[in-house]
Parts: sequence; structure tokens; C-alpha cells
Amino acid sequence: MSSTQKPIVIVGSINIDLVVTSPRIPVAGETIWGHEFQQHFGGKGANQAVAVARLGYPVEMIGRIGSDSLGAQARAALQEAGVGVEAVEIAEGSSGIASITVSESGQNAIVVVPGANTEVTPEYLDRHRKRIESAGMVLTQLEIPMRTVEHLAEICDRSRIPLMLDPAPAQPLPATTLSRVAWFTPNETEAAFYADGIDPALVASDPQSLAKAFLRMGPKAAVLKMGARGVLLASHTKVEILPAISVAAVDSTAAGDAFNGAFATGLILAMDELEAARFACAAAAISVTRRGAQSSMPSRAEVDHLLKVQA
Ligand code: RIB
Repeated sequence: MSSTQKPIVIVGSINIDLVVTSPRIPVAGETIWGHEFQQHFGGKGANQAVAVARLGYPVEMIGRIGSDSLGAQARAALQEAGVGVEAVEIAEGSSGIASITVSESGQNAIVVVPGANTEVTPEYLDRHRKRIESAGMVLTQLEIPMRTVEHLAEICDRSRIPLMLDPAPAQPLPATTLSRVAWFTPNETEAAFYADGIDPALVASDPQSLAKAFLRMGPKAAVLKMGARGVLLASHTKVEILPAISVAAVDSTAAGDAFNGAFATGLILAMDELEAARFACAAAAISVTRRGAQSSMPSRAEVDHLLKVQA
């Protein structure tokens, strides 16, 4: 790390993903045949950390693994990817597990059993407060307890550190916490939850109103991640829609995490918002062409190459 590079710090979940591929996502009460089973390293927090590390920027993980062998493997995978794991602590019991179904069209459905992620408590954060306060940017998601997210937002606010919040899985957020968020990054499902049944068609017909609806909730800026339809970037000064890069998707798991990790990396490397969003769209596009969560994160050279051939 050069002395001018403050690390990105991720406060979030570490999971083991148990993934089945099947022709489609089954409906309630239905049993269908699948094709294949794979185990991957995942967790929205850990995925975002690996996304940053693969792009070559210093990153540290603040999260917890269980006392089982899966936890030790997940920690080793993070370390191998280049993520700082000094703050990753063991909590007695099971590691976080995600059961994931990926359809032939690359869509996914995920059920998370949080396990050790519930032990990412405010007290644990306080043990690593100096590390958080040394960050150039902090990223979090909602697979850890809400009171921890609230505490983190307070720490970031006091230390004037930009906080990027990925509101997944969607759940009610205190207004004070939202007002402390620099970047709020829902996907369409989450956007509909927060903006009270918001109509995603507004993106095409009235992006200004959609952007205003987000910003009224309190964050300084928002990015609506719309998968193959691209992203809507909304700050108090501008609203932009950026198309996605078209690729043959095999697995969309963690595409949003690839986006967040790359967007944060772009911003901290002083790209402007639009340039960082373009960089992040390229990272997300590459990630959906590969299976798994952390295993799908692209390197800087791969992202730069895709941007070049797209130009
Ligand atoms: O965003 C994808 C991630 O969601 C998966 O890796 C899974 O662990 C869940 O946290």
C-alpha cells in the first residue's frame, strides 16, 4: 500500500455458498431436478472485499466466521485473494451459509442463514474501531445486525469517512442511518422495497422523480443497479443513466457485489462518479460470465480490457 492509499474497509458478512444449478428457479411447493452442485466462498461483505482486492486496491475485512472448518476455509480464501483479515474473528458456532439456486438464464434465488455474521456486533466493531477510522471509504450491507450498521454509520459520520450502503437483504432502515450514507446502492427489488412500491419503469420515463425519491430518503447519492438495464446514478447535482455492457450471463450471483467493490475502487482512485460507475458496470458484466461469487470477480486488467474493447 502506498502511504497515500487509505484502505477500503468492508464491514459485512462472510458466507459459504452452497449452489445448485437448475433449469429455472422453482416456485413454492415444487420439486425440480437440478444439474449440478458447487460450493463457493461468498457473503456480500466478503465478495465486495474480494472485488476490491482483485482490482488491486488495499482492502480490509471486518467480519466473523464460525468455529467450523468452513469458516477457516473462508478466511483463508479471503487472505489468498489479498484481503486483509487481521480483524476477522471466530465466533463459536456455525459460519454463515447461503443456499443459492442459479437458473439456466443466470438468475438466482438466495436464502442466507447468518450464523457467525450475527456476532458482528457494535462491541466487535469497537474492538476494531481504529481500523475503521483509518479507512478511505467504508462499505457495508445488511447481512449483519442492524444495530451494527447504525453504529458503523455513526462512526463513519464522526470520522467523515464516506459510507457505501448496499441495502441487501432489504429491511427497514432508520432515517438517521440513511442520512449518514454517502452512497446508497439498491438493486431494483430493494429499490421497490425502500421507495414504497416504486415503479422501475420510471427509470425510462421519469428518472428525475425516481432519483428525487431516493435522495429524499436521506443518502447523499444513490445508484440503482438494474442488471442488464444498467445503472441510474443520482446525486443532488445530477442524474445519469448508464447502460449495462451486454454479455452472455451464466450466473448473476454477486454481480451487485462486483459493482459495489469496483465502484468504491473507482471513486477512491479519484475517478469521477460516472467513470467509476462505468468501471463498475464492466466489473459486474465480467462477473456474470463466471460461476460463483468471489470466484467471479475480475482483475483490473480484465476490466480495463473490456472498457477498451467497448469504447
Ligand atoms: O450477493 C451474493 C451473496 O449473497 C452470496 O455470495 C451469498 O453468500 C449471499 O450473501
